[in-house]
Amino acid sequence: MNICCIGAGYVGGPTMAMIAKKCSNINVTVVDINEERINAWQSDSLPIYEPGLYDVVQESIGKNLFFSTDIDSAIKKADIIFVSVNTPTKTFGEGAGRASDLQYWELCARRIKEVSESDKIIVEKSTLPVRTAEAMERVLHSDESNLHFEVLSNPEFLAEGTAIKDLENPDRVLIGGHHTETGQKALNILVDIYANWIPRDKILTSNVWSSELSKLTANAFLAQRVSSINAISALCEATEADVTEVSHAIGTDSRIGAKFLKASIGFGGSCFKKDILNLVYLCESYGLNEVANYWQQVVEINEYQQIRFIRQMIQSMFNTIAGKKILILGFAFKADTGDTRESPAIKICRELYNEKADLVISDPKATSNAMKDLTDLKNITYEEDPYKAASGADAIAVLTDWNEYKYLDYEKIFKGMRKPAFIFDGRNFLEHEHLFNIGYEVYSIGKGRLSHLH
Ligand code: UDX
Ligand code: UDX
Repeated sequence: MNICCIGAGYVGGPTMAMIAKKCSNINVTVVDINEERINAWQSDSLPIYEPGLYDVVQESIGKNLFFSTDIDSAIKKADIIFVSVNTPTKTFGEGAGRASDLQYWELCARRIKEVSESDKIIVEKSTLPVRTAEAMERVLHSDESNLHFEVLSNPEFLAEGTAIKDLENPDRVLIGGHHTETGQKALNILVDIYANWIPRDKILTSNVWSSELSKLTANAFLAQRVSSINAISALCEATEADVTEVSHAIGTDSRIGAKFLKASIGFGGSCFKKDILNLVYLCESYGLNEVANYWQQVVEINEYQQIRFIRQMIQSMFNTIAGKKILILGFAFKADTGDTRESPAIKICRELYNEKADLVISDPKATSNAMKDLTDLKNITYEEDPYKAASGADAIAVLTDWNEYKYLDYEKIFKGMRKPAFIFDGRNFLEHEHLFNIGYEVYSIGKGRLSHLH
């Protein structure tokens, strides 16, 4: 069997590498219009950082896993085509800022129709608005050809940083197919592929629309939990409650559960904001304005949380940060990834820059992406070594929960800083008492400050 995947990104690359590893009888070809990306997949330095990914790719590359820019030949050969191209938020026209931009998806569908010489199963891997498959089927069947294209939805639930673990041992795999004979046949073919390494009871099947909507819903629910606890963190700061204690107390209720209750500077990443805005737009298109407003608020609390953090930094540093050196520790949207898409660090750095702070940005994997995100801002320093970066700083803002930041020698760092030395823990994961005892002014999210000043 031949599988082709269009889109060698964060989702397509790791997912196909795992299928190739687990199914030695299937040939997997991952194609992309971006030649640089394809070359990187074939090199020792992969285009994305993901723990464990390199080994999985090395196991199969050249045997049954191939990367190529020859999209047409890969389509022709394939029995199954996964489409995993990006579906960003539209930046123009109707629905700008909220609706999904489906132009790449449609281009792929047209290309598939044009070059195919045999029937195909098309698998939606990208996150798409509910009922996209219907539009795709129309495009694919829009001429006289006798070929049949069966569209399945198989959304990815992997999170960056844990992608390999999530692919190897997922909570569930979801596959949506039409309730027709051809639909069910295609669905079973895909179920059998996953059954090579995933227990059957974890492979859920549904109709196409439920599957498409489940992906948007899953991300909206996860993001909603982060916004809910972040909203409570503001109340904690006003009342001397401690958000970590509140999270723990409610998280031990098994009906609520402990995950996604870490208060933070807000969620980032390529999916949450994009998918919620898309959900909002969809609800509005169906005339469901109250439902749209409800989900919109999840995004607004996320922005509010970032603004609150910036305000607190400025206020605590005597209402001016002009000319002060601020070390940004962590720029990625979360730990274990170099990805900075929608990272709260972007907005926070831009605002601090507007206040004329002197910024030094440090991150173990994300400084090159940070440079691209802030390319229009002049005189920012990028320094991977946190000790060098901290020298002479007035304040440290920890924006990403990299594990190694827990184990820095904060005493040594303190000695090289200007006094009073401030630390703002945007992830609530450092040892605050210890930092306070060293001499820092310690601020975090949803907790009282620890201050030596009166
Ligand atoms: C994926 C999904 O596609 C997206 O819908 C979901 O919400 C998040 O995960 P991701 O893998 O993170 O996106 O995107 P990206 O890393 O940008 O990869 C997409 C790739 O598709 C890029 O390498 C791009 O060059 C390629 N592409 C895009 C094509 O090959 N052809 C196109 O027409 C458009
Ligand atoms: C998410 C979904 O988890 C995944 O299933 C989907 O396929 C893609 O989107 P990802 O974007 O990789 O994955 O990151 P995730 O681990 O979900 O974190 C999202 C953001 O929320 C990060 O910025 C993270 O730091 C933040 N977060 C998460 C919190 O602030 N608090 C938490 O308790 C959990």
